[in-house]
Amino acid sequence: MAEDHPIRYFDHAATSWPKPPGVTAAMVRAIEDAGGNPGRGAHALALAAARVVASARGEVAALLGVPDERDLIFTPGCTYGLNLVLKGALAPGDRVVVSAVEHNAVVRPLTVLAAAGVEVVVVAADREGRIDPDDVDRAVREAPTRAVICQHASNVTGTIQPVGDMADVAHAHGAVLIVDAAQAAGHLPVDVRALGPDAYACSGHKGLLGPQGIGALYLAPGFQPRELIEGGGGGDSADTGQPTRRPDRYESGTGNTPGATGLGAAARYLREHGDALRDLECTLTRRLHEGLVEIPGIRVLGPPPAEERAPVVSVVHERVPPDEIALALERRAGIAVRTGLHCSPWAHQTVGTIETGAVRFGIGYGLTGEDVDVALEAMRDICR
Ligand SMILES: Cc1ncc(COP(=O)(O)O)c(C=O)c1O
Repeated sequence: MAEDHPIRYFDHAATSWPKPPGVTAAMVRAIEDAGGNPGRGAHALALAAARVVASARGEVAALLGVPDERDLIFTPGCTYGLNLVLKGALAPGDRVVVSAVEHNAVVRPLTVLAAAGVEVVVVAADREGRIDPDDVDRAVREAPTRAVICQHASNVTGTIQPVGDMADVAHAHGAVLIVDAAQAAGHLPVDVRALGPDAYACSGHKGLLGPQGIGALYLAPGFQPRELIEGGGGGDSADTGQPTRRPDRYESGTGNTPGATGLGAAARYLREHGDALRDLECTLTRRLHEGLVEIPGIRVLGPPPAEERAPVVSVVHERVPPDEIALALERRAGIAVRTGLHCSPWAHQTVGTIETGAVRFGIGYGLTGEDVDVALEAMRDICR
């Protein structure tokens, strides 16, 4: 910990920090003023809890362009949402086509499903991490395919995938498109109606600027994966069968009311300020990227600076190992980054950094041009 320095937080791809105004206060209000159990009971505190959750659902649905907020499921996070969809939609004998740059939140459930008899076909990416929809099309044409699975943006290279085209390819062949949106939601303008995925799984605590322990999963109306867990929902208690209506089917048990409320407040902030924040993130990302490529011995992973990317810039140096760089960044300038494989061995395999991992700068809310300049100066020194 660099005690002499302010924290310059470049780890937004892991979790965003700080949170925008209103998020913490909304969570405190949810606990203090709406502390009953939502949907369970008709007393004032239970009703207040139901109201704050409904309002949060409406905010997040509006931000993501979800037409009917009942199709927006609160989950504990992106990993849970992806597990729900993959395990709820796939059965032994199904075939899926998946991109070669997926996070372990997709790879590990698929490994379990493959052992149970799901055929997993991997479509390679180029060295910048781009997936070509034509390659997906070819893979899907080879045999009946239940699902195409692809991330919207990479947590290693920042590469943005053409998920709208992937949806067209999947739907043309009767498959569903499942999208890991952990690094896209909040950072990219998202309208699920226009993009057309059947499932769109988000983390609440990254670009959506909410707290940890909450996520959002959009399920298209016609897509009905089985629920991951069964249990109480507050209504129809005499019926021992799982409800089929949404969101209750997928939200058994008492949910994370403070988390949902914080996420709702963050979504409200993003609806008002998201365009300006995205512009700033693009500017800072490009400034950092352009500065880093000028440093001798540095390789920046992913597409070139002129190409649009999510606000993630990962680098390797020909001589200085990533952990050494990260330690020096924090000691010298209070800069927080993440090294290693970022839970994404497939992506690092694709870009040729599986042996070393990389240093990842994740850009987001709260960072300034000065922070980027300090980071560049420190990198020049460390890599000299
Ligand atoms: C691309 C990607 N997918 C999924 C996840 C998992 O998100 P969570 O840890 O919020 O469940 C992450 C988190 O790092 C990610 O970067």
